[in-house]
Amino acid sequence: MPARQRIAQEIAARGGWISFARYMELALHAYYSGGAQKFGPGGDFVTAPELGTLFGRTLARGLPFTSILELGAGSGKLAETLLKELDCEYFILETSAALRERQRERLGDRVTFLDRLPQGFRGAVLANEVADALPVHLVAWTAQGIMERGVRSEGEGFAWEDRPASGQLLAEASRIEVPVPYVSEIGLAARAWTRSLVESVSDGVILVIDYGFPRREYYHPQRGAGTLMCHYRHRAHADPFAHPGEEDITAHLDFSALAEAARESGAEVLGYATQARFLVNCGITDVLEQANVENALHYAPIAAQAQKLLSPAEMGELFKVLALGRGCASLPGFSQGERSHTL
Ligand SMILES: C[S@@+](CC[C@H](N)C(=O)[O-])C[C@H]1O[C@@H](n2cnc3c(N)ncnc32)[C@H](O)[C@@H]1O
Repeated sequence: MPARQRIAQEIAARGGWISFARYMELALHAYYSGGAQKFGPGGDFVTAPELGTLFGRTLARGLPFTSILELGAGSGKLAETLLKELDCEYFILETSAALRERQRERLGDRVTFLDRLPQGFRGAVLANEVADALPVHLVAWTAQGIMERGVRSEGEGFAWEDRPASGQLLAEASRIEVPVPYVSEIGLAARAWTRSLVESVSDGVILVIDYGFPRREYYHPQRGAGTLMCHYRHRAHADPFAHPGEEDITAHLDFSALAEAARESGAEVLGYATQARFLVNCGITDVLEQANVENALHYAPIAAQAQKLLSPAEMGELFKVLALGRGCASLPGFSQGERSHTL
């Protein structure tokens, strides 16, 4: 059944209204289950591992672990690169059956696929551009009070409808100081996801790599329309009702919220850095030096990857790396530069 129809049915069954978080969950479930090309130049977006091997080869230098669990492995490209660099056992937890099949074809028996988080995991958990796909609740701070922005059917499509916020959402929204009127997201699912990751690791680190900010920047007075963004065939736009199930819907991460959730569940923040700083600390310049500088045909694509990964105008500053640890002292990627106190 098309996603549009499936969502409309659920809205009708629930009395005419669902939270935006539920809408996003249904739309993204359909999107990631679908067969369309999502990754790379011919798809909807290009992630760091899809640019080439520079990201994965550099990340490998910052992973002193013999077990890796990758969440949401996309096309399997990062796993492929890391497995060439590291002698480790590799697990993948992927919620999309279609992508799991694609990863299995690419990686074969070098990877063990998991259906749920393990217990007592020892090693590194990696989540690159996964947490931004977790459903967010939308909140409107208005002169009339704090509202939850939800979705109703309208004609063949959908429209916004606000209702007074309640429960945990109201409690979280009340803690955030913003000018009125103001609309933004609160990632309750990302908080719960972080807690469950921390609980599943007994000894090791969780690396969350994604775009986002600490709370004070996230809920900045000038960001009054939030960070929700859709990606459809390399076009970014802000209307999540445009192509339900056929496009990516994401929100930036509030890294302070993830850090809080982790600390409450017994993990430490081992580091928080921009992607550029993290990759430089891991030794991206050494990896670049291994390239054949004399041969422009060989060097130019690698230099282009470095530019994309490191430049403040591209992924270098907006993307951050958050490391949450249990029983693990320090990591090379955070040896210099910003530390957890910036969260
Ligand atoms: C934007 S893609 C990123 C893929 C890959 N990590 C990369 O960097 O190219 C998001 C991935 O996360 C998966 N995913 C979404 N929600 C997830 C969840 N709760 N747990 C595990 N994987 C999830 C999607 O199916 C997809 O593989």
